[in-house]
Amino acid sequence: MSSLFRSTVKLFLAAVFLPSMQVALHAQAVQATPNGVRVTGNNLTIELNALRDDVLRVREWQGAKIPEDSSWAVLPHSRASRVPVTATARGFRTKSLEVSIDEAMRITVRDSDGKVLQQQAEPVRYDDTNFRLYMKMTDDEHFFGLGDKPGPLDRRGMSFADWNTDIGYSESTDPIYKSIPFFYSWRSGHVLGVLFDNTWRASFDFGKEREHEYSFGSVNGPIDYYLMYGPDPKQVAGEYAWLTGTTPMPPKWTLGYQQSRFSYFPESRVMEIAKRLRDDKFPADGIDLDIDYQQNHRPFTVDRKQFPSFEQMIQQLKDEHIHVVAITDLHIAKLPDAGYKPYDEGEAQNRFVKMPDGKDFVGWVWPGDTVFPDYTVADTRAWWGTLYTDFVKDGIDGFWNDMNEPSVFNVANKTMPDDAQHAIRGDEDLGFKDRVTNHLEIHNVLGMLQTEGTYEGLRKLRPNERPFVLTRASYAGGQRYAATWTGDNSSTWNHLRLTTPMLENLGLSGFAMAGADVGGFRGSPQMDLLTKWFEIGAFQTIDRDHTTDTSRPQEPWEGGSAHEAIRRKYVETRYELMPYFYTTVKSMSQTGVPVVRPLFMEFPEDATDGHPIDLDAPAEFLFGPDLLVAPPEFPEETDDYAVVFPKGIWYDYWTGVRIDKQNPASKDVTITPTLEILPVYARGGSVIPEQPLVQSTDEKPNGPLTLRVYPDAANACSGALYDDDGKSYAFEHDGYLKMEATCTATAGGLTIHLSAHRGQFPAWWHEVQFEIYGLPKRPAAQFAGHNVTVEHAPTCDAWRVTVPDNGTGAEIQLTTGS
Ligand code: GLC
Repeated sequence: MSSLFRSTVKLFLAAVFLPSMQVALHAQAVQATPNGVRVTGNNLTIELNALRDDVLRVREWQGAKIPEDSSWAVLPHSRASRVPVTATARGFRTKSLEVSIDEAMRITVRDSDGKVLQQQAEPVRYDDTNFRLYMKMTDDEHFFGLGDKPGPLDRRGMSFADWNTDIGYSESTDPIYKSIPFFYSWRSGHVLGVLFDNTWRASFDFGKEREHEYSFGSVNGPIDYYLMYGPDPKQVAGEYAWLTGTTPMPPKWTLGYQQSRFSYFPESRVMEIAKRLRDDKFPADGIDLDIDYQQNHRPFTVDRKQFPSFEQMIQQLKDEHIHVVAITDLHIAKLPDAGYKPYDEGEAQNRFVKMPDGKDFVGWVWPGDTVFPDYTVADTRAWWGTLYTDFVKDGIDGFWNDMNEPSVFNVANKTMPDDAQHAIRGDEDLGFKDRVTNHLEIHNVLGMLQTEGTYEGLRKLRPNERPFVLTRASYAGGQRYAATWTGDNSSTWNHLRLTTPMLENLGLSGFAMAGADVGGFRGSPQMDLLTKWFEIGAFQTIDRDHTTDTSRPQEPWEGGSAHEAIRRKYVETRYELMPYFYTTVKSMSQTGVPVVRPLFMEFPEDATDGHPIDLDAPAEFLFGPDLLVAPPEFPEETDDYAVVFPKGIWYDYWTGVRIDKQNPASKDVTITPTLEILPVYARGGSVIPEQPLVQSTDEKPNGPLTLRVYPDAANACSGALYDDDGKSYAFEHDGYLKMEATCTATAGGLTIHLSAHRGQFPAWWHEVQFEIYGLPKRPAAQFAGHNVTVEHAPTCDAWRVTVPDNGTGAEIQLTTGS
């Protein structure tokens, strides 16, 4: 490192007068550090560090006292990471970014070509503990992220608050359950991610308050934010995952279909539902037990009147390959002297949130009087984790942490009082000092910390099994511990429409394992709505039918066999797509790129004027990299509509028809909506692996692996497959299977190359069935020097060639003639 970096440069500038603030700025000190810069002036200090060439951290504070350097969200090793920078007069340069701080203490961030990515419009504004940062907003700027806040995908023109709230919501409700203070700023495909790591009641405004500015701020706490540069949106998703962690590889069964309602009881009803799923050959992997399996809604109890043979029921369901997910809410019933272990132990060990007078805070939730573990304390999280011991022994595979905003009934603010006390124990890694704070600082992270306790507890109790935790509330980084869902939606067409932008924004905010209650939670859906919901839900990462206690039955067979047949077909498609889906999930767990993703993620430069293509196609989304799901803008619409395609070659997933969107003059694909069909398209250039139908992910598929080959305009293609045992951590060693398929154009057609298998996990297939799309006529096929039979696919416009696959690789030549 050059001594220039290490030397301290101090510049004392004459006081300047800033007209917009009407305040005098005094002497400033600009201090270059090896990894950034520190500027002090006018009672304000800005410290900017490069954690990587493309990730910066900005901290600002008033006065001489340096704030605590801590985070619940950012991984300690990422927070501590540093790269050397090149000092400039008032800032520094990294390999990809250039930062400067002007005399007025405004920060500008540019890319290495000088393009402005973010520019403060004025210095930070303080009002007592409140503060706000205003950034200039360009006319072509769009905003995404902030979790599942309802409304359109693009956040421009709107403002939002972060305060976890249990609320039945509509399209304009804010805040709801989660606070994920991370957003993408998009300027003509140049994406900058911003994580505003402040757990207090924070807020965001994207050009609502000021026409040409966006802003974020909070009522208290640190000015501490991270900037992540793409320009590619996938790069930003990866940087966010680097900062806050990826979603761990989930158990495979959680990608199957799950059946739920508030609540299935008694146990005979649970078994009846399971039997019907199997009798109807409706593929399924899970049943959820909502609060009524518990005695008086007390977490970690079982109502023995309703569930006299609870343990046997779980085993019987297991035998049917149906995994049980049991709800365990955030709170504990206040039940002294009644032999209720969670309360007795918690009380004896001083685990519950206190009021300033030293007494437990007591709220009213499902069980009546309840107390609340103080999940800010690592020991308390660990203790919470031990409460799962019996349920884990019983064979319950998933746990559902609900009401963790935290929700409290019968009080105006619907949560704990502001002055409830949380203890924070000094933690070197997380950077916290030993202190007690009030609920205002902790409110938004309490749910996430509960899920940390659950997840880590399950890791200890079942060290070689991947946990499944489902949460309603969370904070940035919560994806490390739990999957999520969008809470109490409604059984309306509008809510079905809302699911897509909500899940896309959740995925962009790190929560890729996410779903919305299929059929809607509040109210009872019309049967057509339920059917359409099943269709779209089949292409969401978590596919769970769930509804409230007062609604009509909402199982797949409601409304009769014609409806059920359509719903079944889509869930079956999900299961057939499992190799593609699981491969996508694997890559999501490594890269942070979500499964359900906006089109701009794959096609950031598709629109000629630089706007994200999704603005033209608000209902469309990608399921993994290669499948485009294209319902009409309003799902109940019966008018014809034109599908918006990114450039390239596309194939109708159902019929195999090739659509040439490489050619700008190509005709529109016009859809007349029908109940039975959800338009889905495969990307030209992809290879999509599929399996024979199974009734659960535990079942070994019987038959060949199908590789759907969709050549692009140049007859090229590529695709990958990942598999493992779906349960354990053996994949971290060699317990996985990876392979790739590619095609290249030849003079007379194309050659498909199948790689050898890598890893020790055995393939379930012995043959690969290639299904080749887009060929003008029947090709001749050669494998290992011999001609092989080419058949027409039964339902699609495609040609099938089946060859043995012994894991060493293969090559198939297809000749279509000239
Ligand atoms: C909350 C949840 C809902 C659940 C109910 C009863 O409303 O959001 O999914 O069914 O509580 O536990």
